[in-house]
Amino acid sequence: MTAQPDLQHRRNWLEGSKSATAGAALPTLELSGSLAGPENKRLSRRELLTYVWVGTLAAMTAGSGLAAYQFLYPRQPANVFGGRFHLGTTANLPPIGSEPQHHVDGRFWLVGLEEGPRAFFNLCTHTFGTRWIKLWWDSSNARFDCPMCGSRFSLEGHYITGPAPRSLDQFVIEIVTGRKVVAKTKYVENAILSPSIPAPDAEIVVDTGTMIEGLPSMSSPILKGYRG
Ligand code: FES
Repeated sequence: MTAQPDLQHRRNWLEGSKSATAGAALPTLELSGSLAGPENKRLSRRELLTYVWVGTLAAMTAGSGLAAYQFLYPRQPANVFGGRFHLGTTANLPPIGSEPQHHVDGRFWLVGLEEGPRAFFNLCTHTFGTRWIKLWWDSSNARFDCPMCGSRFSLEGHYITGPAPRSLDQFVIEIVTGRKVVAKTKYVENAILSPSIPAPDAEIVVDTGTMIEGLPSMSSPILKGYRG
């Protein structure tokens, strides 16, 4: 359910690493003089090729492993999209039910709700061709609107109407006290749970490198007749 936004170039890079090596003409290795013992005077061509292929395989495995690790755990500087945004204490969260805060650099909307804070990715979950469309906040109707083909989402990120296949995607919010993450946004059994706030001086961090996809449109509470 978790997806990485805007990371196609990382995937391309990861796949590119698989073609890193190829067989090449290799010199014959000969041992002579004092190194040439009675039982090991020369490496046969077969032995040499075996060593080369084993080495190549090991290098490829190590390279792919490193690339996969970097894909899964990309190192991004703080407060840059793809990295973690430190927003100060939870006292800086928008009041419950108030208008969302737009964090342009992080490409998210921060929302304060009864259940806890949410950080919605500022992209419509429907794609227009190959284009990803940014949302805007319609304060008169208290909802997120897609200006392209008209999908609408509630303050809670729930799908209301339009061709969008799911409710809004959201980034993981971490609540940090004493350099320890004590709560964070979680996907649990077809629900996305907000982190609880233990104290007003806890720190709030939005991890824009970790996104949870919105739930399918047809499961939206709005379609079931209530807001949640
Ligand atoms: S791109 Fe948003 S509804 Fe189509």
